[in-house]
Amino acid sequence: MNSKKQLADIRKEYLQDRLSEDNIIRNPFLQFKLWFDQVLKLKIDEPNAMILATSDKNGIPSARTVLLKSFNEMGFTFFSNYKSRKSRELIQNPRASIVFFWKELERQVRIDGLVEKLSRKESEEYFNQRPFESRIASIASQQSEVIPDRQFLEDKFEMIKQEYAGKNPLMPFDWGGFLVIPYRFEFWQGRENRLHDRIIFEKAGNDWKLSRLSP
Ligand SMILES: Cc1cc2nc3c(=O)[nH]c(=O)nc-3n(C[C@H](O)[C@H](O)[C@H](O)COP(=O)(O)O)c2cc1C
Repeated sequence: MNSKKQLADIRKEYLQDRLSEDNIIRNPFLQFKLWFDQVLKLKIDEPNAMILATSDKNGIPSARTVLLKSFNEMGFTFFSNYKSRKSRELIQNPRASIVFFWKELERQVRIDGLVEKLSRKESEEYFNQRPFESRIASIASQQSEVIPDRQFLEDKFEMIKQEYAGKNPLMPFDWGGFLVIPYRFEFWQGRENRLHDRIIFEKAGNDWKLSRLSP
C-alpha cells in the first residue's frame, strides 16, 4: 500500500548537537534544567507535555500525556484526578516512567521513579492558581469514568459553574498532585547515521552513576 511506503520513507537525520561525558552536567536535575531552559526559549507549545507510563498490580501498562507543573531536586510534579486510571494504577504500583520528546532539539529525556502523592496543602497551592473554569471542570469530571454522552458533561459543568458563581471552588478530595522521585534518567541526543548519544544516570546511594548506552 502506498501509505505503508510513505511511512517507511519518513526518516530524519539528527545533526543539531552532541551529548558527551565532557559536556553533560554530572547532576541529572541540573542537566534536565539546562535542556528544559533551552526548550522554553524556543517558545514551542507545551514543552512541559510528557508521556506518563504506569502499570497496574498485574504489570499491565498504560500511558498518556500529562503536563509537568514543577520540578526540583525532589522530583517532577503533575496533577490529576486521584480516581482516574493512572491514579488507581499508581496506588497499586507507585512507580512511573515519564518521557519528554523535544523534536525541535532532537532530544528525548526518560525518567523512571517512585511516585508519591503531594500533600493536600501543596496540591491546593496549585489548584487555587488555576482559572475558574478549570477548577469547575475538575469538580465536574470524574476522570476516566464512563459517561452517557457529551451533553451530560456540559450540563454538569454548567450546573456547578452556577453553583459556584462569585465563590471560590475548593479543590475536590479526589484531585491533587503526584511527585515522581527519579532513580534513573536517560538523556538522548539524536546524532548522524542513527549513532545517537544516550547517557544515563542511575541512583547509587546519594550519588548518581553515569553510563553511556549504545543507541
Ligand atoms: C497535552 C495534554 C496534556 C494533558 N495534561 C494532563 C494533566 O496534566 N493531567 C491529567 O490528569 N490529564 C492530562 N491530560 C489528559 C490525559 O492524557 C488523559 O486523557 C487523562 O488524564 C486520563 O488518563 P487515565 O484514564 O489514564 O487516568 C492531558 C492530555 C494532553 C493531550
